[in-house]
Amino acid sequence: MNVLITGGAGFIGSHLVEHFLANGDSVTALDNFSTGNGLNLKDSGLDAISGDIRDQKLVEKLTIESDLVLHMAAALGVSNIMNKTLESMSINIAGSEIVLNAAAKFNKRIIIASTSEIYGKNPKQPLNENDDRVIGNPQKIRWSYSDAKAIEEAMATSLFLEKKLRVTTIRFFNTVGPRQTGQYGMVLPRFIKAAISNEDLHVHGDGSQSRVFCHVKDAVSGLVSLVGDNDTFGEVYNVGGVGETSILELAKKVIERTESKSKIRLIPYDEVYGAGFEDMQRRVPDTSKIAAKTGWKASKTLDDIIDDVREYFISLAG
Ligand SMILES: NC(=O)c1ccc[n+]([C@@H]2O[C@H](COP(=O)([O-])OP(=O)(O)OC[C@H]3O[C@@H](n4cnc5c(N)ncnc54)[C@H](O)[C@@H]3O)[C@@H](O)[C@H]2O)c1
Repeated sequence: MNVLITGGAGFIGSHLVEHFLANGDSVTALDNFSTGNGLNLKDSGLDAISGDIRDQKLVEKLTIESDLVLHMAAALGVSNIMNKTLESMSINIAGSEIVLNAAAKFNKRIIIASTSEIYGKNPKQPLNENDDRVIGNPQKIRWSYSDAKAIEEAMATSLFLEKKLRVTTIRFFNTVGPRQTGQYGMVLPRFIKAAISNEDLHVHGDGSQSRVFCHVKDAVSGLVSLVGDNDTFGEVYNVGGVGETSILELAKKVIERTESKSKIRLIPYDEVYGAGFEDMQRRVPDTSKIAAKTGWKASKTLDDIIDDVREYFISLAG
């Protein structure tokens, strides 16, 4: 197979590159290196094509040459969304429209990456694919990421219904692991990096908000399990880990597991993201739909994740 991976130099994208190369497929990665990094592809030996998913001519050319498109390119990370809002919306809406339309035009199989942010602050937990979106008002800029991804999902569904696009949507929940950067607000790499250097771990709010983390290797195998299944066209699947943990517990666990001397510092949300910032208290995935369809479920624990990310940062430093 020829596999085109948009955002292939990114965190999840680079792990997908490695998976498909190891499988004997031919892979093309397209990336503008905004949050991705050529170093992420060092082990794979692949050079990503430098370009933007909003370049329709380029995207169409690469799509024609592919059998499978994995659309991972996006602007993400709370701080990125808050600080570069217009550019983020443009990438996530206009860019995704170009990628989806190209796949429809040339009748290609495509998987798109959506997010648990889709559910917003819906208090019902765990969240299944049919649950409502509960979103704050559009002036609360954090929700623009969720809104853009919702538009992308709706475009995908409409292309499936109107043009028989062979699309499957995955809603990733807090995917973590080696190569994720903490630079754009992602909590786990931020904590581990700080712990390794014995610096304070900054917990936003009172730390009672909880998440369920999924190792990127599990996320990749979840995606891969859906690729060849024709019944998944037009469908949406949650892909997430097991074991809910509060962010305060996470900070304590990271310090303990990395044998760090770091202290925990609580920082009010307003101080980090400005007045009126809204977060969701819990976000627990119901993954029974994908489990029933393909038998997939996450296998890696939070300890596995912390160990792997710690090793990654240590190898970078060395
Ligand atoms: N990591 C998570 O926890 C998580 C959770 C939910 C959804 N997702 C989704 O998964 C996908 C991959 O995310 P990730 O965690 O690997 O993040 P990432 O930032 O590492 O990957 C995104 C990649 O897209 C590239 N990119 C951004 N704008 C581009 C553009 N205009 N043209 C070409 N390339 C561009 C970036 O340089 C980067 O390499 C995204 O669609 C994201 O929304 C991730």
